[in-house]
Amino acid sequence: MIDDEQLSFNTQSTIMNLFAHRQNPSLRLFYNVMDNRLNQKDIFSTLAVWDASGWRQQEAHTLAQQLALPVWNGEGDSPADLLLVLTAERLELHSQNREEGGPIFVDFVQGKAGYRRQHGGGWRQPLVRAVGLRPSQPLRIVDATAGLGQDAFVLAALGGVVTMLERSSVLSCLLADGLRRLAEQSRLQALPQVTLTLQTGDARHLLAAWGEEAPLQRPEVIYLDPMYPHRPGSALVKKEMRRLRRLVGDDTDADALLLQALPVATRRVVVKRPRAAPVLAGQRPTMSLESNLTRYDIYRLA
Ligand SMILES: C[S@@+](CC[C@H](N)C(=O)[O-])C[C@H]1O[C@@H](n2cnc3c(N)ncnc32)[C@H](O)[C@@H]1O
Repeated sequence: MIDDEQLSFNTQSTIMNLFAHRQNPSLRLFYNVMDNRLNQKDIFSTLAVWDASGWRQQEAHTLAQQLALPVWNGEGDSPADLLLVLTAERLELHSQNREEGGPIFVDFVQGKAGYRRQHGGGWRQPLVRAVGLRPSQPLRIVDATAGLGQDAFVLAALGGVVTMLERSSVLSCLLADGLRRLAEQSRLQALPQVTLTLQTGDARHLLAAWGEEAPLQRPEVIYLDPMYPHRPGSALVKKEMRRLRRLVGDDTDADALLLQALPVATRRVVVKRPRAAPVLAGQRPTMSLESNLTRYDIYRLA
């Protein structure tokens, strides 16, 4: 539940009022700054910024200012239940609740993502088949619910030209930090290029603007993986996902997002759902691909 104090972080209504004037190019820089402040999807927990490295105080203050958050100096009790932590290498999200596991950060370099990038493969994964990505046939893909960018990176590592959209300002900062480290690593190790970019904001507005302003560059595929409402008693979701849900809440407007995506994509919209979940917005997909726990609903448009 959201209490009044947490609601004081909410800058969304101001942003929405300003949205109407967005066409004015002289105001664009201002909006970019505003969009980086906390929005309505970040109000489910209290947050603060902490420089744990000891030498990134300036960055910590800039980040805290951008997101309108307090800075913690590491002394006494933490003022918040989630912390955005600047370590020597990266930006991490920490929880005060130990049961929720270790730090969350975006990793496009090591682990599964890095292995995939260096060794290729993965063409048979349901996500890749659902999106319709094939070797030597790059697609322009918008991942309109980027989260931690894991699905987006799978698609980009296989040659997709991927734009991530994320409305949580905190997740967007983690993604931007992941992209920065990816660019550094790619330069140092001469790794194969991936095309992966990020836009912060609500995908419903960004997609509407895309359809109107750049009709010739509409994406071939739009991919949606909205947060599914938590059911009491349902099997434990991954710890990482539980913490993300605490940060951004459930995506209860996913129906509207699908309806916005359908007229913008040129080839297909793909929606990832829990296997037994109802379809979004009552829209019957052209076909579905099922794996153990997951279903990909595919809406073919051409
Ligand atoms: C389940 S997570 C996605 C996980 C992601 N597929 C991955 O691989 O890491 C859903 C994310 O979509 C974002 N989201 C939901 N609706 C959105 C919208 N209308 N615009 C932008 N982001 C949205 C949420 O903030 C959340 O971060």
